Amino acid sequence: MLNHIKQFANYKTPFYWYDMGLLQETLQVVKNESEKYGFQVHYAIKANANEPILNMIQSFGFGADCVSGNEIQAAIDSNFSPEKIVFAGVGKSDDEILLGLDNSIFCFNVESIPELQVINELASKVGTKAQVALRINPNVNASTHHYITTGLEENKFGINMWEMEAVLSRLETSDSINLIGLHFHIGSQITDLQSFKSLCVRINEIQQWFYSREIIVDHINVGGGLGINYSSPDKELIPDFASYFKLFNDFLETRPKQKVHFELGRAIVGQCGSLISKVLYIKKGVQTNFAIIDAGMTELIRPALYQSVHKIQNLSSNLIEQKYDVVGPICESSDSFGKSLMLPETKRGDLIAVRSAGAYGEVMSSQYNLRTKAMAYYSGTPNKSK
Ligand code: LLP
Repeated sequence: MLNHIKQFANYKTPFYWYDMGLLQETLQVVKNESEKYGFQVHYAIKANANEPILNMIQSFGFGADCVSGNEIQAAIDSNFSPEKIVFAGVGKSDDEILLGLDNSIFCFNVESIPELQVINELASKVGTKAQVALRINPNVNASTHHYITTGLEENKFGINMWEMEAVLSRLETSDSINLIGLHFHIGSQITDLQSFKSLCVRINEIQQWFYSREIIVDHINVGGGLGINYSSPDKELIPDFASYFKLFNDFLETRPKQKVHFELGRAIVGQCGSLISKVLYIKKGVQTNFAIIDAGMTELIRPALYQSVHKIQNLSSNLIEQKYDVVGPICESSDSFGKSLMLPETKRGDLIAVRSAGAYGEVMSSQYNLRTKAMAYYSGTPNKSK
């Protein structure tokens, strides 16, 4: 990153900076490791929907995991094949469902009985059949932040197993629906692979339940959720995809010809992005100094929303380290990137990098306080912005 500091001086801060070389290397690893087992990967567009990023991911032949009509449209605009587009979400609107049907997307991941009914009605109205996977709530704890845990009965996502007999009766009378898969997703930023092992064990039990009713689906979609190393990104710029995919190969019991699908977001794009900001003021505090930077929770809401840690680097100074609270300019006390951080002596005008901002950074930005939307720049495609 330090190699780019001269180039950074030309850009107005704050801005997002994406290392397209790292993205490419990461994608190559994902491809190699998943192909070993014939696994199919859909990129979760919600993590980062920038055009150059989507284009590069698409060029590796991956599919897309979408959660809105606009994400489906973005996937299509970036040439993702509709046969590789999956559409999830607890609240799909009629227009969004119709967009999916119009484009003959691969699969709707259905989250409730009423949704199944609406998809059936709409598909019948437009004279087509919808391919669906049932998103099942496996009731497996992902041991991550409670805001990004999704696979517990108390969460709004997925259908619970105790409802499954009713779902099957509904399917029997749903002539415009083809059941092709079972879908699961237990949460995000999961760093303990044991949680994925528990998911496999649970899926095996659930498959047995379906099998005993003579139902074998074409594919099992295990969702996403693989975490990244936020505290020491340079130690692990590319997550351990080899162990991740191997675990599913070792523990998930598939039926003959059954495919396994994944929906990875953060693990693919997280480490390739940084939020680059400038120090506006150093303000004396009681215990520590405040380094007030020109990026805030409007550009990266993760620390304020999930108390998440992002490594912070001063790119301009190599002086002796001191303690700083690094905060943004937004009128909220939660607008803080970290307290009592050791940074080289920092002064007005220094460039600060907030690392690992490639996933759920720019896509979650807001214009609160009427802030201007920050630009994005990409290494390898100089000055290309969006
Ligand atoms: N599939 C489904 C059904 C999902 O809900 C998600 C993420 C993914 C796949 C992709 O998960 P990933 O591989 O990226 O962990 N804004 C939060 C994360 C929210 C995740 C929402 N669902 C954050 O900044 O940590």
